[in-house]
Amino acid sequence: MDNRPIGIFDSGVGGLSVWKEMVATLPRESIFYYGDTKNCPYGPKTTIEVQNLCTYITNFLLEQDCKMIVVACNTATSIAISSLRNSFNIPFIGIEPAIKPAALHTKTGKIGVLATLGTIKGDLFNATKSKYAENIEVIEQIGHGLVELIEAGKGETDEMEQLLKKYLSPMMAKGVDKIVLGCTHYPFISEMVLRLIENKADLINPAPAVTQQIIRVLEKNKLQASTSNEPDYKFFISGNKQNFEQFFCRAFSNFDKRTKFLEI
Ligand code: DGL
Repeated sequence: MDNRPIGIFDSGVGGLSVWKEMVATLPRESIFYYGDTKNCPYGPKTTIEVQNLCTYITNFLLEQDCKMIVVACNTATSIAISSLRNSFNIPFIGIEPAIKPAALHTKTGKIGVLATLGTIKGDLFNATKSKYAENIEVIEQIGHGLVELIEAGKGETDEMEQLLKKYLSPMMAKGVDKIVLGCTHYPFISEMVLRLIENKADLINPAPAVTQQIIRVLEKNKLQASTSNEPDYKFFISGNKQNFEQFFCRAFSNFDKRTKFLEI
């Protein structure tokens, strides 16, 4: 048994879509979240910039005594997870666009992927695509500007709707029946996406699969918290903590556990 916290990070609020699954599935685990809002978005950054930010955050979370780290960001996973695994002796769990289930279940043979530039140009994404979607048509779309709007609390605005229409129309016109949400921010706009595509494709969010992987790795390394552990939820925010806190309160208005938001 190990009651130390699990660390999780993202460039901002997006990783909360993974955090939410973790809290529901691992109710005894303490979770320390690092939201790097000062450096958001990661999508347009260079490989070396993202790797340096991820290394910095990992060191920070290790100083907080985290026992494992969840990279709740597709961009950071795609660009930096192998260098993190090479540099730190601790389990890392990443998240990547769920191409495999989309390719397995598509009936039209066409899937859409909405992700950041960093994810789409990353080696991991391209390796996964070659492995699982060789005979499938993959229509990739970079979601320029979506992360910024979500971070600014503008997830339900006309501006968002116009951008989404522009990004979704070409893939819908091609006949995709699965859309992979390849950025952890995007589950927070899934209602609008479904409305715009008139529910004509399924959205695939890999967060539940990531949580299953966390459970397997905790078990394998005997790192699970004890069944009597009272979990501690902390949020370390590198930029303005008010925006983050407001987003959290709107998205999880029913969450009744004690949480602490710290600007660092
Ligand atoms: N939520 C992130 C992802 O899954 C980061 C997006 C960004 O910062 O550009 O890719």
